[in-house]
Amino acid sequence: MDRLKGLILSGGKGTRLRPITFTSAKQLVPVANRPVLFYGIEAMARAGIEEIGIIIAPETGEEIREAAGDGSQFGVRITYIVQDEPAGLAHAVLTAEPFLGTDPFVMYLGDNLLQGGIADLVEAFRAGEPDALILLTPVPDPEHYGVAELEDGRVVRLQEKPPEPKTDLALVGVYMFTAQIHDAARAIEPSARGELEITDAIQWLVDQGRRVEPHVVQGWWKDTGRLEDMLEANRLVLDTIERRVDGELIDATVDGRVVVEAGAVLERATVRGPAIIGAGARITDAYIGPYSAIGPDCVVERAEVEHAILLEKSSVRDLDARMESSLLGREVRIGRSLGQPRAYRFLVGDRSEIGIA
Ligand code: G1P
Repeated sequence: MDRLKGLILSGGKGTRLRPITFTSAKQLVPVANRPVLFYGIEAMARAGIEEIGIIIAPETGEEIREAAGDGSQFGVRITYIVQDEPAGLAHAVLTAEPFLGTDPFVMYLGDNLLQGGIADLVEAFRAGEPDALILLTPVPDPEHYGVAELEDGRVVRLQEKPPEPKTDLALVGVYMFTAQIHDAARAIEPSARGELEITDAIQWLVDQGRRVEPHVVQGWWKDTGRLEDMLEANRLVLDTIERRVDGELIDATVDGRVVVEAGAVLERATVRGPAIIGAGARITDAYIGPYSAIGPDCVVERAEVEHAILLEKSSVRDLDARMESSLLGREVRIGRSLGQPRAYRFLVGDRSEIGIA
């Protein structure tokens, strides 16, 4: 088999993660302080893929280019490909055809996270030389995904978000294709949601008698499209970090697997891992609990934060109760005015959610 290329899809509107995605691409929302997208690029690099195309949308593409650059930070070469409209995953493949040529490739949805990487799967694809290889995993809510039906270990039917799924096997957002997928993408019609679905393109391969090999993934998999998924992905990745304290501790306690980046200052604070504190963050008279990812240059003062993601330059000050299960965007300021009368005062963007218990 020829050398494999990589294709990462990093367009899309990220509607389920608004308001964060009003101003930033969903693939750049950090998990354990690193953009989700970087995990996919690294997984490809570790599987020996050197040439990666990233599909970007006109609105968020620039930001993605700035973050991932030419790929040298990952040891790969990145080519950016603009998809003018979000017309579906199979449409993205067609948009990338000039880049992909007739080479086989791994397609990775830029908001997906797969434990254990893809090196083994790429190996299986090379060894077995099927026409396509798909990854599946049982999920409690298959109606939200592409769903596969197998017979004797072979794929017989794939349906995109069926209202009444026949199985609980969801299509994971990582696929391996030969150049036949281009013909498939050209042959299909848009779905009810008006998109060229990759699920339908793969079904077309099945209908043509092509060999589509299913692999059930062993480790965890996350599509980080929603807040709960994002928090869970953050939990799963933080569970794998190793302790490293490079920042400054002044009367501070750091328990367990915690990363404190250089330039962070913890003063009269307790951090209980797994957690990560970004460069330049200041944690003062505060408690940071398990599964927190505090971004660079954030401030937490006289407050308790747990199971939360704070993007860079956000601050949380003077809270009576612990803030938890939260995602704060960049430069968000949460605080309390100490005078009377006691009142809530908000300046909140569209689609924000605030829970007061
Ligand atoms: C897409 C695919 C779906 C797949 C999912 C995995 O859905 O269409 O088949 O199961 O990714 O993340 P989307 O996230 O575009 O709704």
